Order: sequence, then structure tokens, then C-alpha cells
Amino acid sequence: MNELTGKNILIGVTGGIAAYKVVEVVSRLKKLGAEVRVVMTRAAAEFVAPRTFQEITKNPVSVEMFAGTVNFHVEHIALANFADVLLIAPATANFLAKAAHGIADDLLTTIVLATTAPMMVAPSMNTRMLEHPATQANLKILENRGVKIIDAEIGLLACGTSGKGRLSEPENICAEIVKFFAPKILEGKKILVTAGGTIEPIDPVRFIGNRSSGKMGYEIAKAAQIYGAEVILISGNAAVDAPDNVKFVKVETAEQMRAAVLAEYETVDAVIMSAAVSDYRVKNVAAQKIKKSNETLTLELVKNPDILKELGQHKSHQLLVGFAAETENVIEYARGKIAEKNLDFIVANDVSQEGAGFSVDTNIASLINRAGDVENLPKMSKAELAERIIRRVAESI
Ligand code: CTP
Repeated sequence: MNELTGKNILIGVTGGIAAYKVVEVVSRLKKLGAEVRVVMTRAAAEFVAPRTFQEITKNPVSVEMFAGTVNFHVEHIALANFADVLLIAPATANFLAKAAHGIADDLLTTIVLATTAPMMVAPSMNTRMLEHPATQANLKILENRGVKIIDAEIGLLACGTSGKGRLSEPENICAEIVKFFAPKILEGKKILVTAGGTIEPIDPVRFIGNRSSGKMGYEIAKAAQIYGAEVILISGNAAVDAPDNVKFVKVETAEQMRAAVLAEYETVDAVIMSAAVSDYRVKNVAAQKIKKSNETLTLELVKNPDILKELGQHKSHQLLVGFAAETENVIEYARGKIAEKNLDFIVANDVSQEGAGFSVDTNIASLINRAGDVENLPKMSKAELAERIIRRVAESI
């Protein structure tokens, strides 16, 4: 889905080496459907040619206040009016100082004064310049004025030193923009998401696990957060990084996951149980590493608690969403699980299909409700499926 279709984004590029990274920001925003226009300061045009941005945006790039012969006197107003949001990236110390104090001595800073659009700034500079009290005070002024600061990251800087000052990654900057435009349909709601695979120890070094990568659940947590929910993500083993701005609880076993989920259950509006919970655990976990002294080794397994079923049994106000990973009779089994676990809806998928299931970035799923209605979704990215699930949740709570 194109989250930014119909959105006008004006990007101000100021003179820092990270200007080259903004080429990727623009490219990503275009792919998300946004209309993008770029204004550069003269210094920025020393780092990246205006033509580069021109080619990607398919729009003229403005640098000079008095460049054109036509309409030059209204260009800053036209651009100021165009913007649904104004993003400055990279924002230099000099730009931040001018913006904080209302100085308008070039096209970009004039637009900053002339626009009523919300502004975001992504600073990038040498660590000492960033930490200088003047820069910090200017950032505070801007923040108090409602400007969203997309924090610089810690890393290796162009000046050869390492520290805070690297431009936030393009992916992150774009995520902030998407978040800005997302309708806050889950504002005031608390959503609990489980993700990843639980693991069950055999001895101090071995365990029984599964192939869950956590991608689906992490995308759901991200989407819920973008749509304004307060999110608790309880995760087993996962191959992806925890999303920002969620309460992240890491667990290993099914029993630990059960305890973590139950501790939050009363306070949440919905639970989305995408974790691959081990159905069994080892009955007697060896206290010491098992030696390979015998030809065969038998592990006795005992059943784990079914967390979702327990939630269904004690359900009061909560919306319950389950997952069903099947290899045959998908819809029939999924309907059975709705009834058995007292769910509101279930996300069912045939994991034997190509492009669905574990480790891949896509999924092919069906959403089935209590009444048994089935919505078959085409193959889509896990991020997009997460959005569909979250919008369904928002309609139902
Ligand atoms: N689930 C759970 N606790 C378990 C096992 C599963 O909460 N011990 C949840 C999963 O997170 C998922 C749903 O229940 O949302 C999956 O249902 P389940 O019947 O366990 O699926 P399978 O393990 O595939 O069951 P079966 O092997 O019987 O098909």
C-alpha cells in the first residue's frame, strides 16, 4: 500500500555531507506515493547536485531566492503552501540557529517562516557542534515550538571521529513521516502483541525451538504503534531488531511468555498472538550438559499451557486475535481454533505455499471472523499484512 499517496512533502536540504543520504530518503518517499519537492541551500548544492533531486522528484529543485525570471517573487510562498509537512535533512547547526531565531536570509529559511506546515528536522553534524550549548538551546527552542526532532545517531562521522551526529537512517526518517500522516485510529488503546518463537531448554546448552523469525509480530507491533496505540511486545526468539517506542519484553519459554502475557492482560484492549509457542517442553531439563554416551536418547515432552486458550477463557473486554499456521484444510482448522480459543478473529495461512510463512518477508493470509466470514488476502509484505490486521483491530475495539 502507498501510505503517502496524496501527501505533499517539502524537503529542505542544508549543507552537510549527509546530504547524499537524503537522496535515498526522497527515493523512498516517492515509492511510498508522496509528491516530493526539494529546496537546497547553496552549501547543500556543493555536496549533491540539484539535478539529482530533480531527476528523482521529477520536479524542479530550488536553491536561489531570486533565481527565476518568472514567479520569483512568489516561489517561497508557493512552496510554503505546497507542503503538508516540511522536513529538513540534514539540518546543520547553522540552519537550526537561523530557524530558531526567525532569520530568513535565503530561500529555505524564508519558506520556514512562510509555511504553516508542521516541520521536522533531522540534525547531522560533528558531535561537538551538536553538543554545543548554542545548538542544544536552538533544538530546544524548535522542539518547544512543536518541531519534531529526528534525533541524530551515534556512529562514525565524516570528520573521522566517532560520536553522536550521524544523520538518522533514511528508513527511520521515512518511518517518522509515515507515522506523522497515519490516522491515529488506535489512540488511547493498549495493544499486546506476542511474536517470535518460544524455546524450551533440554540442558544448559541445548533447546527445542522453531523457525519463527518474529517478523510478522514485530511488524504488527510497529503498525499498532504508528496508528497511535500504546504497544507491549512480548517476544520469544526472533531474528529482527525490536521496534522503537514499544514496551519490549523478552522471554524464552512458553511458561515465561504465559506469565508475561497474563501480567498485562487485564489492562489491554486487544491481544494479537502471533508467537509460535512451543506446544511441548522437556519434562526433566538436565542440570548439566548431556554427554553423548548412549546410542539413542529419548526426551520426554509434556504439554505446555495454551496461552491463547487461557486468554479466551478469561476474556472480558479484550479483543483476541490468533494465528493459525497450517499446511492443509486451512480455513476449516482456523474456524475450529476460533471456537476452541474464543477468538474474535484469526489470521490463517498455509505455510506450505511459496511466499508465506517463516523467515520470508511476505505472507499469504486469510482473515476469518467469529461468524466464519473469510477475507482471502493476496500475497503481500508482512508490513502490509500487519497494517491490514491492525486496521481490522481498530474497527473492532
Ligand atoms: N498458541 C498459544 N499457546 C500455545 C500454542 C499456541 O497461545 N501453547 C497460540 C499461537 O500464538 C497462535 C495460536 O495459538 O495464535 C495457534 O493455535 P494452535 O492451535 O496452537 O496452532 P498449532 O500449534 O498450529 O496447533 P495444532 O498443532 O493443533 O494445529
